[in-house]
Amino acid sequence: MQGRALEDILAQVKPSDTGLRNNGGGHFNHALFWKVIGPQIGTSQAGPEGPLQRRIDASFGDLDTLKKTIAKAAADQFGSGWAWLVQDLNDPDQLFVTSTPNQDNPLMAKIVPAAGQGRPILGIDVWEHAYYLNYQNRRTDYVGAVLDRINWSAVSTLMA
Ligand SMILES: [Fe+2]
Repeated sequence: MQGRALEDILAQVKPSDTGLRNNGGGHFNHALFWKVIGPQIGTSQAGPEGPLQRRIDASFGDLDTLKKTIAKAAADQFGSGWAWLVQDLNDPDQLFVTSTPNQDNPLMAKIVPAAGQGRPILGIDVWEHAYYLNYQNRRTDYVGAVLDRINWSAVSTLMA
């Protein structure tokens, strides 16, 4: 697989490819998380702009509704996993929110249902390891804090 893009490997990964699925997915997911989260509140107060803002408004109505939709997906993900904002590659103007268990992600076309497949542009880690030190079991508070620190400019660069 040397020389292949991780995104392409994940698009082909099968349910039985446990090592690739967990470690390849885990690397991709965390790398994306570090890209889209700002270091502290106040550094990313600029909201979405340009095509990202238009796509958020067209898909969700407004930014606040998008944040609520992500927060609900994060809260409803049972056990460990991720909440995602995803670009629909069949209709790039369309964005949607979904979640996946463990280290799966919306690139995994042989694992994730068709309605949940696309290009992830924002991901929030909802494994307990992401929040238990500072938030104990309060996943909702942690997710709210992350959503206040999103670097929307970075999210924008991840769109196709
Ligand atoms: Fe994590």
